[in-house]
Amino acid sequence: MANTILIGAQWGDEGKGKIIDYLTRGVDVVVRTQGGNNAGHTIVIRAERYVLSLVPSGILHAGKVCVLANGVVIDPVSLCAEIAGLRKRGIHVGSDNLLVSDRAHVVLPHHRSLDAQREDRRSGRIGTTKRGIGPAYADKISRTGLRMTDLIDAQKFSARLRDRMREVNRFLKLQALAPIAAGPVQREYERAAAILRPHITDTVSFLHRMLARKMSMLFEGAQGTFLDIDHGTYPFVTSSSTTAGGACTGSGVPPNRIDRVVGVMKAYTTRVGGGPLPTEDEALSQCLHEMGREFGAVTGRARRCGWFDAVATGFAVKVNGVDHLAVTNLDGLDGLDAVRVCVAYRLHGKTIVVPPADVMDLAQCEPVYVDLPGWRKPIDHVRRYADLPPRARAYLRKLQALTGAPLKWISVGPSRSQTFLAG
Ligand code: IMP
Repeated sequence: MANTILIGAQWGDEGKGKIIDYLTRGVDVVVRTQGGNNAGHTIVIRAERYVLSLVPSGILHAGKVCVLANGVVIDPVSLCAEIAGLRKRGIHVGSDNLLVSDRAHVVLPHHRSLDAQREDRRSGRIGTTKRGIGPAYADKISRTGLRMTDLIDAQKFSARLRDRMREVNRFLKLQALAPIAAGPVQREYERAAAILRPHITDTVSFLHRMLARKMSMLFEGAQGTFLDIDHGTYPFVTSSSTTAGGACTGSGVPPNRIDRVVGVMKAYTTRVGGGPLPTEDEALSQCLHEMGREFGAVTGRARRCGWFDAVATGFAVKVNGVDHLAVTNLDGLDGLDAVRVCVAYRLHGKTIVVPPADVMDLAQCEPVYVDLPGWRKPIDHVRRYADLPPRARAYLRKLQALTGAPLKWISVGPSRSQTFLAG
């Protein structure tokens, strides 16, 4: 099978975990290339629900190798807890099927506390997951971060962590923030380092060996296009490159070894945290929440919901070079009399079809909608495109025409069996 980059075409939580799980069957290696334990991928297999945060969902498939590549930021304590949780449920996680890049950066306790402090202090809250992701990437860019390679030698790690904690506490003092007791951090991180050591390796060389052997790869994106540090609704974004290009820098696999890009999008739009969401609709949010849908997999926060935004997804198709789209959660719209699709924005008296750079402008954009009739019947039992109600098919055709990329997969529920080919 082809080497595939899979990305979220909206604001994250598009149901990527499910499509990743579906596509994983055909690949040898599954690679995470950005983000950290801010992500949450939900996979349901035979009524068992798994929520994965850092570990690629390929871990649930026997015989696949999962890689946390150089672009990821890793909280070692949290990764150990995730590994332990998987093992407890009988999932094999060993140094043969989970490789961690020696170049990946480490999330430290001060990253988490700075994340929380900054959130509490700033006026327009981003609504971060408070997992320390932004501050960890900031240290990476400032060239002060620790990397997984530093964990390999116990003595060196102990010395480096001590030095780093000293520096961090000096910085916290300058900011009038409470210092972090180095002793407990040292002990906790050293325990985690001992567990992770067998997994840490040069994943760039590993991936190139796999390429040479014609093994196929799936690069699983976390978050979504509009949370991308460059292309998202800045500053209401995460701190990594969530778009297709990020998969190459985040793994060391060059662009000319990528065969296709798959974009995943919901049949409507959701967002967690702050920042503009042009098609946000309170009645739709309420309706979906009453159905028990759209609560965050990691934080449990209620997601903000809106109508499908073809301006945003059309832009995502372009910047990611999406070859195929997967539409998830189509069943979320089952009970509605009418479904709306945003085809343009009105801003300062003009009609625009590309999201503006300035979030203040984006917040002022008024969606221009077309309304389509709803199908008003449950579709979660449907297993073939031809068996979808004609109005649901018409809705999907509209999404395809507006986004400019072919629809390839449709998902009508959380379990593996509820995904089928479009057309
Ligand atoms: P951070 O990644 O924790 O810094 O959060 C920055 C923004 O990205 C916040 O609005 C979060 O809610 C959002 N975010 C981070 N990770 C995810 C995710 O996996 N799904 C959806 N939103 C996310």
